[in-house]
Amino acid sequence: MSAKKRIRVAIGLAAAGALTIGLAACSGGGDGGSGGDGGSDELTTVGFVAVGPEGAWREANEQNIQDTFTEEAGYDLKYAPATNLDQKSQIDAFTSFVDEGVDVILLSATEASGWEDSLKRAQEAEIPVILLDRGIEPDDDSLYVTRIAPDNVEVAKEVGAWAAATFPDGGNYVVLEGPAGVGVVNERNEGFDEGLGDSSLTKVDAQTANWSAEEGKSVFETMLKSSNNDIQLVFAQNDEMGLGAAQAAEEAGLVVGQDVKIATIDGTKNAMQALADGQLSYVHEYNPLFGETAMDVVEKALAGEDVDSYIVVPSEAFDSADAAKAVLADRKY
Ligand code: AHR
Repeated sequence: MSAKKRIRVAIGLAAAGALTIGLAACSGGGDGGSGGDGGSDELTTVGFVAVGPEGAWREANEQNIQDTFTEEAGYDLKYAPATNLDQKSQIDAFTSFVDEGVDVILLSATEASGWEDSLKRAQEAEIPVILLDRGIEPDDDSLYVTRIAPDNVEVAKEVGAWAAATFPDGGNYVVLEGPAGVGVVNERNEGFDEGLGDSSLTKVDAQTANWSAEEGKSVFETMLKSSNNDIQLVFAQNDEMGLGAAQAAEEAGLVVGQDVKIATIDGTKNAMQALADGQLSYVHEYNPLFGETAMDVVEKALAGEDVDSYIVVPSEAFDSADAAKAVLADRKY
């Protein structure tokens, strides 16, 4: 991460136009079309190198992007989901967008590494690239305009701090991780460990369950069996894996909230309902609805304005059934 200051964007701020910049002629490698009220008839072409089907969070995030970059708003959004989460299909789509000369590329990377050549090609073609959600490694922010995402380290740090406060006398915990190679997995481990501080909670196992409820259930079942149910906390790096762990706990005769507590990240509807029903113990939002912010950043980038290297999307923590019940009715994802 460069030393540039992060700016925290309130989602409502973009709607208030605080970041909306009057459109100038596009500097991108595309047809120079300008989105929004740029006055030109041409649409701004946006190549969206997406992840595709992966779970409720991804569906909410990618739908929000598609709902934002509409023709009415002045955009021609070309949505390119990965084939079975395969990075090669993403790199192929990215290359096609560069060859086609789109005005801007949005990238949600299935893998953190392996992007340098693609990003350099986009740079040579003067096509700005904006990272959505996922970071890249090595993090060379000269190769992209910005990354727009909630701050995984901070989010997970709050989960760790909640865990340390909830277990003052320690206990055994396990981590259900996202897939190896995905940047947010390391960021969430780093933040959780930081948040634990000098807690006497002991990590007894950590395994990937690939963001899935089914795998979360089967992996946690195995963890419970091998520890004779002596696990007091699950840190699940996303909602689906946590919901799967809750099923496994129930089938093992354990009561979530009493025998074991389960903390997750995302804040999707199903998890918030589970928190309200006592099947989860803590849910930290990882707000996927940042399409408006992305559109303002695209307009700034195409207008040649400077953009900070990381735009943090604020996200809330929910640590009780009551907190979940208070927001369920209006939940947008
Ligand atoms: O990169 C964000 C993660 O990817 C979400 O937490 C998870 O649900 C999604 O699959």
